[in-house]
Amino acid sequence: MQTAVVTGGAQGLGAVIARALVAEGYRVVIADVNNEAASVLVQELGAERCSALSLDVSSEHAVENALDTIETQWGMPYLWVNNAAIMKAQSVLDIDVQTFDRVMAVNLRGTFLCSQRFARRLLAAKNKGRIVNIGSLAGQNGGAATGAHYAASKGGIHTLTKVFARDLARYGITVNTIAPGPLDLPSVVATIGEDKLPGLLANLPTGQLGNPNTVARMVVELAREDANGLTGATIDINSGLYLR
Ligand SMILES: NC(=O)c1ccc[n+]([C@@H]2O[C@H](COP(=O)([O-])OP(=O)(O)OC[C@H]3O[C@@H](n4cnc5c(N)ncnc54)[C@H](O)[C@@H]3O)[C@@H](O)[C@H]2O)c1
Repeated sequence: MQTAVVTGGAQGLGAVIARALVAEGYRVVIADVNNEAASVLVQELGAERCSALSLDVSSEHAVENALDTIETQWGMPYLWVNNAAIMKAQSVLDIDVQTFDRVMAVNLRGTFLCSQRFARRLLAAKNKGRIVNIGSLAGQNGGAATGAHYAASKGGIHTLTKVFARDLARYGITVNTIAPGPLDLPSVVATIGEDKLPGLLANLPTGQLGNPNTVARMVVELAREDANGLTGATIDINSGLYLR
């Protein structure tokens, strides 16, 4: 049984991905700052297949400690999903330095740190592995209401994906990103407000928010051992909002 780590897996898209991975036969570590929500998910999925780990992905020491704990508990993970992120809908004129730095630290540095430290351990163990990042449409088109810091952090993740993919390809480690548009998740309505939902839907070519299960199934596909030739890609799941 392979072990997968999902950062920010306690709720929202991360929880959908965790459920899909457990259904696929993985043991899943929910690595999140929200310990309460993570425990609820572990109860739902069963402690023999799922565990919760308190992790702030922006902290170098916390990431190293998390890897130590996971290796001791379940052995070296095969799959790492960088899903944890924070977002603040703000105009460029209103963003203060502290908020800019925190969004970058969680979203971009967190993805960098987790990928780098996980990859180092895979190499030391001579293991192959998979890294899947959750990017965003905002990282491609600037986003409509997600804030410059969030959009820039996601654009940075798309670029990190290419560089990590190139550097790690020879070791049998693939690195890919899924770039969702607005998904059918509580966070979307919380950001735009219930009243703006009809306007958002009218603007989507498909007329529908993206299904989080589509993203989760793509994670499963990218993680397959025989998907070894698929690396460095950013896969769009964006309701037809941005075609390239
Ligand atoms: N919801 C969407 O429509 C949408 C669209 C595009 C991309 N995304 C991306 O999908 C991912 C999940 O989004 P969501 O909508 O489920 O968000 P969410 O806010 O519901 O969940 C984010 C999770 O990350 C955790 N988290 C926050 N800071 C953390 C930290 N420092 N360390 C570890 N965990 C931390 C939170 O506790 C939470 O469980 C994010 O990367 C987001 O950018 C979402």
